[in-house]
Amino acid sequence: MLKVENLSVSYGAIAAVKKVDIEVREGELVTLLGANGAGKTTTLLAIAGVLRNSGKILFRDREISHWSPEKVAHAGIAMVPETRDVFADLTVLENLRLGAFTRRKDTQGCEKDLAGMFELFPILEERRTQPAGTLSGGEQQQLVIARALMSRPQLLLLDEPSMGLAPAIVDKIFDYIARLKQTGLTILLVEQNARKALTCADRAYVLALGEVAASGSAREISESSDLAALYLGG
Ligand SMILES: Nc1ncnc2c1ncn2[C@@H]1O[C@H](COP(=O)(O)OP(=O)(O)OP(=O)(O)O)[C@@H](O)[C@H]1O
Ligand SMILES: [Mg+2]
Repeated sequence: MLKVENLSVSYGAIAAVKKVDIEVREGELVTLLGANGAGKTTTLLAIAGVLRNSGKILFRDREISHWSPEKVAHAGIAMVPETRDVFADLTVLENLRLGAFTRRKDTQGCEKDLAGMFELFPILEERRTQPAGTLSGGEQQQLVIARALMSRPQLLLLDEPSMGLAPAIVDKIFDYIARLKQTGLTILLVEQNARKALTCADRAYVLALGEVAASGSAREISESSDLAALYLGG
């Protein structure tokens, strides 16, 4: 579904991502691991059309390397950034409706999907009239995931959904991710929480200093003790 070939991204003189190859097949949950600064966010932003890049990004056999973020979103790729930014002054419901910007005319479908989001994330229904800025960190994370899903993406890019959350909430977020996978959604998940990510992923790539240092099935990667020590923080 997604093929990233020979992707390089620089910030001025800093080469953040170097000749990276990544593939995500339909229905797969693939995790992109690596230490701070390895180039994970940069890779996702390039896929989402936010960063200029060299190399080739193919989505459903179409080259999207130089598309605008809007065009990429309309093509069916949604990204949940690590900054977890909700529209703080808007209500939970308004935030969710904005997520459906790619399908403004599909009112019926949106209402149906809203109901689906409330089923998946019950706390959002409880808080639906509350300004999003008043939600807890874990609730905001659920909101940004749900908001991204409102565009009915074919591919979801998730950047560190567990960051800064209490362990119990992290478990909950990973439960949600596992459930999304069960619905058939294709997911590319960036995580520093390698152990957790590897338990729910099909395959994994490990980035180190902007390059793919290892890749394989989630099992292969999690059983490689060298990798853990070298790149995944023990
Ligand atoms: N806007 C920027 N300008 C200059 N350098 C940047 C910029 N954004 C990122 N970098 C650099 O690019 C490299 C990769 O950063 P990136 O954010 O992709 O890493 P990451 O793997 O997502 O790290 P983290 O786990 O901390 O989120 C880092 O060395 C970082 O300092
Ligand atoms: Mg990052």
